[in-house]
Amino acid sequence: MSKRKPFIAGNWKMYKTSFEAVETARKLVRILKGINHVDIMIAPPFTALAAVYEVVKESSVMVGAQNLFWEKEGAYTGEISPGMIVSSGCRYVIIGHSERRQYFGETDCNVNKKIRAALNNSLVPVICIGETEKERDEGDTFNILDKQIKMGLEGFSPDDLKHVILAYEPVWAIGTGKTATSDQAQEVHRFLRSLIENLFGKKIAGSVRILYGGSVKPENIGELMLMPDIDGALVGGASLDAEKFAGIINFKI
Ligand code: 13P
Repeated sequence: MSKRKPFIAGNWKMYKTSFEAVETARKLVRILKGINHVDIMIAPPFTALAAVYEVVKESSVMVGAQNLFWEKEGAYTGEISPGMIVSSGCRYVIIGHSERRQYFGETDCNVNKKIRAALNNSLVPVICIGETEKERDEGDTFNILDKQIKMGLEGFSPDDLKHVILAYEPVWAIGTGKTATSDQAQEVHRFLRSLIENLFGKKIAGSVRILYGGSVKPENIGELMLMPDIDGALVGGASLDAEKFAGIINFKI
């Protein structure tokens, strides 16, 4: 089975004003000119989406949002609809990030509704899953992931799965400098792919891209990308700097 096209995404979290985001996006476009062996996405804060899109729209860099609300419109103060995200130039949306689960009470049930809303609006959801340090220490990693996948993807068809990306982000490796070793990550990615095979069939399991996230840097991306079931990365801190992020995108294996 040939490997899938790599996908490297930068999650800018709650960093950068619109002005700063545009500056970084400009630098990135300049550095990445001519690169097309990797799909590249950046997810700035909502307030910078439209401005960043204007900067990258002629380049290979694509834009994603960090969250959405599933309703089309209405009295939902502070929320952003899928249509608003699409109209800001986004093709992707990150869903179920562990920080949303941890600080904003997001559940697998919410994640499920958000994935449906994304797909209904032709947005590709980048669906985040991962265990905490305590869950790993208690030997619960696979159970937790099994539950997150089964509940998050309940009711979806193999056809739907053609338009999603999964991101394994062990919570203990996010922003901590502790990367899962490439073997640890591969073990989980293999498990996830076999779970997808059981639920949606071999063909989908072979084509779905599974990203790794958690302290990815230019120094460790090569080793991760060598692994047969790791198809890319969802990068936090190191994506805020255009040169560092480009160093990850230009990984050598
Ligand atoms: P860090 O790369 O900063 O560990 O963040 C990972 C992450 O949460 C990406 O979504």
